[in-house]
Amino acid sequence: MRRFWIDTDTASDDAVAILMALRTPDVVVDGISVVSGNVPVEMGTRNALYTVELCGKQTPVYSGIDRPLLREPSYAYFFHGPDGMGGMNYPEPAGAEDKVHAVDAFIDAVRGSPGEITLVILGPLSNIASAVRIAPDIADKIPMCYVMGGAAACLGNMTPAAEFNIWADPDAARIVFHSGIPILMVGWEHCRGEANLDDDDMAFVRSLNTPYADFTLDCNESAIKTNREWLGDPGLALPDPVTMAIALDPEVCTKRGKHFVDVETISDLTRGMTVVDELGVLNKEPNIEVCWEINIPLWKETLYTTLRDE
Ligand code: BDR
Ligand code: CA
Repeated sequence: MRRFWIDTDTASDDAVAILMALRTPDVVVDGISVVSGNVPVEMGTRNALYTVELCGKQTPVYSGIDRPLLREPSYAYFFHGPDGMGGMNYPEPAGAEDKVHAVDAFIDAVRGSPGEITLVILGPLSNIASAVRIAPDIADKIPMCYVMGGAAACLGNMTPAAEFNIWADPDAARIVFHSGIPILMVGWEHCRGEANLDDDDMAFVRSLNTPYADFTLDCNESAIKTNREWLGDPGLALPDPVTMAIALDPEVCTKRGKHFVDVETISDLTRGMTVVDELGVLNKEPNIEVCWEINIPLWKETLYTTLRDE
């Protein structure tokens, strides 16, 4: 069995990514740590718990850092809806989060199983930055980390230069990017255009007629509307599920390269920009693998596989 840990600011596309991992038969999710991001950490924790219960699992959910390390929080209700879940007002989860703090739980999990737990980060990097500051030894014990974050080709959704997860806590992202953890950065550009679920794709998802397929579309109702109206894109953008698809099947990423990548933390204009030295002009040691291209049909098939009945 492959072992995963998911760090998430659980709103609607995070929920689908969590569902994908929980419904992959050869993957065990050791824990889900929640962080402030698209929604406050309490709301994200509730959304993560609801998703775990929908999948019939008992995966522990841990609540974590409740604000960026040095900045004010900024939520994304306009995109994900007032509950982060498309305004669906899902019932309260039956269970509660684990009492251990997310950062402590993550450190203990990695130290307890060195080299075994793949990390998938779907929100701002405040939890993981805190973990590597408290316990720098964990960097060597994480075999691979997939980060939904940044914009390698430099088209941001928060500013022209920056994507939300990195913009929200750039100081944390910078710490993690220089921590020595092996990282594949999956930028926001990979969920746009043809990588959206268009009307035909969404009709196909609905035709699967499972609670997981319905959940995928329902909780993203607000995201679909905003994505179309704001960006003029064809349908549903799923940045976190694209990243999870790559974590589940690395073949989904068809072109990658290791480069020196840094995060801008000083300028107001380019706060949170992921600066990729693609040409190596800085002569610095490459620290991050960057995903440059994905196989779009394979990404969608990887999603659909997890939405079907067993
Ligand atoms: C990121 O922000 C959220 O909308 C998604 O969950 C993803 O983590 C994309 O910029
Ligand atoms: Ca997210």
